Amino acid sequence: METHIAPGPAGWPGVGVLPAVIRDTLGFFTTTAARYGDIARFRGGRETCHLISRPDAIGQVYQADTERYYKGKFYRLLSAALGDGLVTRNGDAWRRQRRLMQPALRKNRVGAWLDIIEAQTDASMDAWEPATTDGRPVEMAGEMLNLVQAIIVRILFGRGVNYAATSVIADAVKDINTHLMRQIIRQPLFGGLLNRLPSPANRRFHGAVCRVKDTVASLLDQSARHRDSGDGDALLMVFQAARDREIGDGMQAAELRDELVNLFLAGHETTAQALAWTFYFLASHPDHAEQVRAESDRVLSDAPGTAEQYDQLVYTRQAIDESMRLMPPIFMVSRTPMADEPLGGFVMPKDSLVILSPYVMHRHPAYWDVPDRFDPSRFAPDRSDTRPRHAYFPFGGGPRLCLGMHLALLEMVVIVARVLKNFHLTLAPDARVVPEPALILRPKYGLRLNAQRR
Ligand code: HEM
Repeated sequence: METHIAPGPAGWPGVGVLPAVIRDTLGFFTTTAARYGDIARFRGGRETCHLISRPDAIGQVYQADTERYYKGKFYRLLSAALGDGLVTRNGDAWRRQRRLMQPALRKNRVGAWLDIIEAQTDASMDAWEPATTDGRPVEMAGEMLNLVQAIIVRILFGRGVNYAATSVIADAVKDINTHLMRQIIRQPLFGGLLNRLPSPANRRFHGAVCRVKDTVASLLDQSARHRDSGDGDALLMVFQAARDREIGDGMQAAELRDELVNLFLAGHETTAQALAWTFYFLASHPDHAEQVRAESDRVLSDAPGTAEQYDQLVYTRQAIDESMRLMPPIFMVSRTPMADEPLGGFVMPKDSLVILSPYVMHRHPAYWDVPDRFDPSRFAPDRSDTRPRHAYFPFGGGPRLCLGMHLALLEMVVIVARVLKNFHLTLAPDARVVPEPALILRPKYGLRLNAQRR
């Protein structure tokens, strides 16, 4: 096995590169890849890390995921918030849950929830009315969090669920994600001690986790009381009925609760921030917004849309793909090798961190022409065919590819098409848009847009 060491920044004694990561997370990773190459090594506290920016090597890690790589200690921090569910499990426990849950979220199944997505989008747009008639801006990132929450709650628990979208839960989710990122960065210091202190920030985090869990528990309660009137296609019902084809059993009540919290959190801020960024790019590129609008005018009528119609919104989908290229909601993931692993001519030591960053890879000048330019035509089918598979991976890859990918894409196409069909969006003059790499990449000060009815 090769033994030479990959190049990379030296960092500081004891803390390694952590000060640079804390100062400017996105800047650190992009500069490191540009300066040291496609496989760069550094130390974060006591951890040995490699940042991988080569599509073939990223593919190799994903293909060996769950066999030779696993989700290591940083994901254990996530399970404090998410519970023990699909996102954080490993090995046979992950395999069984994935077998049970995957069929319900296939592309041919998610269209059944189209009515929920459309109705909630239309309700959101109606709620913007007072602001839009007075010429006041709409804070689109917050609006998208509330909208996606209203959708996911109904998909999980049924259309009849008595639940008003509340910004309290959207704020709790934001708090959780901000805090988790801080915990991940601080974990390699002092054996993770900072994360265990009863500091106000840690207490706020635990409070936010309790609010989300309590909400999910009360929704579960409500569904149990109205089981007969519930929707057959609510994920709660589908998961309750699912039986493992290999082992023959189903999910226990506690497993079910944890998986619902997982889906609520994994599917919520990711989709909402991807939408916020898409609206940001379209508001700042009126020519591309016009093409999206023309497409929705051509394909959609005033009647409810069908899954086939939304499939025809090719340019809208390209605009979403391009937005997730520049601002991938999950901008970084990591895996840990179970034993020393050869990769790209170097050795990834057992128990170290192998970092894959869509944010870095999606800007790599070898694969993207003028990487910082927003240009949806990059995703036209003839241009996408020539690109290596893992030069673009906003939903991850391999066996642990995002479980909610088809649902997220459907939600995003419907919401972007309907909003652009109804509104002209422009950036509010006082909008200050700066990416903030919390666990999910989001606009730090929200996204203030003027929305004018067409
Ligand atoms: C634009 C929206 C979304 C993006 C960009 C996104 C991205 C991702 C990524 C990158 C991963 C892999 C993480 C890793 O490898 O460590 C992932 C996993 C996952 N996502 Fe998503 N996601 C989105 C929406 C959703 C939705 C709507 C749901 C469900 C309702 C969902 C559920 C999950 C689950 C359960 C996993 C873990 C899968 C496994 O490990 O088997 N995601 N997502």
